[in-house]
Amino acid sequence: MIRLLFVCLGNICRSPLAEGLVKHHAEKQGILDRLEIDSAGTGAWHIGNPPDQRSIAVAKKHGLDISGQRARKIKVEDFDLYDYLFAMDNSNLNDLISLSPHEHHGKIRLFTHYDDSQKGQEVPDPYYNDGFDGVYAMVDHAAEQLILHLKETHFGDGYT
Ligand code: 4NP
Repeated sequence: MIRLLFVCLGNICRSPLAEGLVKHHAEKQGILDRLEIDSAGTGAWHIGNPPDQRSIAVAKKHGLDISGQRARKIKVEDFDLYDYLFAMDNSNLNDLISLSPHEHHGKIRLFTHYDDSQKGQEVPDPYYNDGFDGVYAMVDHAAEQLILHLKETHFGDGYT
């Protein structure tokens, strides 16, 4: 079992899309049962809330239902439990580094890390600016590339 946690600021816009799309691509590649996937925020404002209506809407437009998710805040145990923690932007990345014990810093990386066409790019915070279509496209591509990477490196090409 590989445990993946997707982290943004509020856990209502970007990381719920990442959670939903990574699950979607994992299912498509036949490895969903090998993964534990969740998302969290570094901020506490939206704990217990569903994703932002704009994230729910853009996902629905593409046939993905993320409305059942509920926001939570990252906790220190997450750094023990998860094998990879993916930050949506550099601010989230720096927060995760600050919050975590030194021995877990190697588990933390940008969400776009395994996507050659977007590597090093931040998923922009759409909360005040909108741009949910662009965020969706970016997250979808990065999610697919991440799952293809995990499939190849952890489960072998032939795993279905
Ligand atoms: P997210 O977007 O980090 O992608 O969930 C945000 C959601 C809420 C806030 C900021 C960013 N906020 O300030 O409440």
